[in-house]
Amino acid sequence: MTEKDITHVSEAQIAVHWQEEDYFYPSMQFIAQANMTDPAIYEKFSLDNFPNCYKAYADLLEWDEYWHTILDTSDAPCWKWFVGGRINASHNCIDRHLAKNRNKTAIHFVPELEEEKVEHITYQELWVRVNEFTALLRDFAGLKAGDRATLHMPMSAELPITMLACARLGVIHSEVFGGFSGRACADRIVDSKSNVLITMDAYYRSGTLLDHKKNADIAVELAAKDGQTVNKVLVWQRYPGKSSTPTPMVKGRDFFINEELKRFYGKRVKPVSMPAEAPLFLMYTSGTTGKPKGCQHSTGGYLAYVTGTSKFVQDIHPEDVYWCMADIGWITGHSYIVYGPLSLCASTVIYEGVPNYPDAGRPWRIAQDLGVNIFHTAPTAIRALRKIGPDEPAKYNYHFKHMTTVGEPIEPEVWKWYYKEVGKGEAIIVDTWWQTETGGFLCSTLPAITPMKPGSAGPSLPGIHPVIYDEDGNELPAGCGRAGNICIRNPWPGGFQTIWGDRNRFVQNYYARYCKDPKSKRWQDWPYLTGDAAVQAKDGYYRILGRIDDVINVSGHRLGTKEIESAALIVPEVAEAAVVPVAHEIKGKEPDLYIALKPGFDASPELEKKISDAVCNEIGKIAKPRRVWIVKDMPKTRSGKIMRRVLAAISNKKDVGDVTTLANPNIVDEIKAMVK
Ligand code: WTA
Repeated sequence: MTEKDITHVSEAQIAVHWQEEDYFYPSMQFIAQANMTDPAIYEKFSLDNFPNCYKAYADLLEWDEYWHTILDTSDAPCWKWFVGGRINASHNCIDRHLAKNRNKTAIHFVPELEEEKVEHITYQELWVRVNEFTALLRDFAGLKAGDRATLHMPMSAELPITMLACARLGVIHSEVFGGFSGRACADRIVDSKSNVLITMDAYYRSGTLLDHKKNADIAVELAAKDGQTVNKVLVWQRYPGKSSTPTPMVKGRDFFINEELKRFYGKRVKPVSMPAEAPLFLMYTSGTTGKPKGCQHSTGGYLAYVTGTSKFVQDIHPEDVYWCMADIGWITGHSYIVYGPLSLCASTVIYEGVPNYPDAGRPWRIAQDLGVNIFHTAPTAIRALRKIGPDEPAKYNYHFKHMTTVGEPIEPEVWKWYYKEVGKGEAIIVDTWWQTETGGFLCSTLPAITPMKPGSAGPSLPGIHPVIYDEDGNELPAGCGRAGNICIRNPWPGGFQTIWGDRNRFVQNYYARYCKDPKSKRWQDWPYLTGDAAVQAKDGYYRILGRIDDVINVSGHRLGTKEIESAALIVPEVAEAAVVPVAHEIKGKEPDLYIALKPGFDASPELEKKISDAVCNEIGKIAKPRRVWIVKDMPKTRSGKIMRRVLAAISNKKDVGDVTTLANPNIVDEIKAMVK
């Protein structure tokens, strides 16, 4: 064992191992209408037919110029898909639907306040609004293909409008989750070298109108300190024509979009034909080091993959009303609120607020009123709704045919509540396992073909071929039921192209560990490391245990422990910080933060709060530690390494094991007494 194995603790290590459950089967009614019912799909996407099988996904799109090479591996492991092709994502999500579906609702925007009107935007109206805003981005903000624009926008109809306007020009959008701090936004502006920031003045969260404009001021100021000038801040208004923020506009830098937009009414901009491999967007995510990494997604491959998986796994038909309750600020929202559903000409629901505002019946009222028949959310939301309103779904007259769970493992008990109460026993469930990096789903049942098994993501998708390695790089036998590191043997079109501006880190983080030959140009030599531990059961189904690295999945949101630790270290009194994952009933995991102070400082509730606030200010409220434990000393190895494993055992009320070899074994009991 290495020192890291002894000191370190990962989510996968604290995972609970569930019993194998029985299968659940889709209804005949579901199967009769499903997009994909042919079991031969698995064979068609077998490794023998790779990569040509993915032509079927590419053919779901309209190409300006058809591609000539399906997969180019010459720059391994930066794979290029559909080379030679030219395409525009905005055209594929909007323009191509106009002939037949001009008057169909593309977006239902549901404000958090129930007394506010739901906005129904037709494909025609979406086309008009995207065109006008595209003209503004080009002629007023000076953006052109290849430039990056940072978006820091809340859930609103204007967010996909902004994304699709960027895509129309070939501008690479980088949306930062609205709940992230100004500091987090600044880091992403600097890394992507954006000189335009697009934001909104305010939005509702739990019934309060939050001032969001202030984050833009912080972001621009901090980015400037780090050498990146933002010369235009474009501000959408929550209530067009009326300011909802006390934060003043900076003259010459900040502009209200709806005022500037007047000059662009009636303007139309032809979609810019982009090479298939041109980046469509960046999505920053947490990794093993402190700095978030910008996952760079392509235009052609990504759009083909999310369109295909939306069709076959989400079973979206043009007549469906589809609601994914994720935030567009995360990859789930990009792929399965915006690009996938709109590419298939569905009606997609965007809800501004929290699921339990003003009460636990809200999601089911929205579903009932809009006729939602496909629903998509995360275990953390399911657990919360089950806790506060277990009998609410039955009170409303909605009917789902299909439901998704995503983002973290779901407990079989919670799965069954979702199935029985939310789905009313009528809806199939897909448990989709994937990542920011992968663009779209990796493992899930195919809803009309493979039966469901609670607590299990299911088999890999057609065209995805996983392998589980042990620590020494040996392949575990298929279906052996032992835990190991799950990797994907082959590339697929939705996979990210690289880490923005850091190819070396891309190769190191995702491919170095199990690469068979670093000089090889064959994809067979480059298994992709997902960073998750998994077991495969005899039936081929995968169960994901959690991260094997320094990432904690809090309410389905990825946070780097190093990011939280470095935020705590900004507080001058703090000498050392250690974050460990703690199991939590609703959130799945939570970060527990242990702190040792510099000499001369004493613990106090005020100081605990100051440290907790520092984490929220640096990253955002989602990173707020469960508790800040100020300890006299950290448990350490004789070589001075913090024993996070011991701290995690204490936080999770588990046996700490043998601690006699520590440099300071006595501290363990002291910390235990404190945390109890
Ligand atoms: C976890 C979210 C179990 C996993 C789409 C992965 C899951 C990380 C599941 C990626 C699932 C996601 N079952 N675990 N169905 N889906 N995960 O990048 O640990 O925010 O590595 O992408 O979430 O989180 P990310």
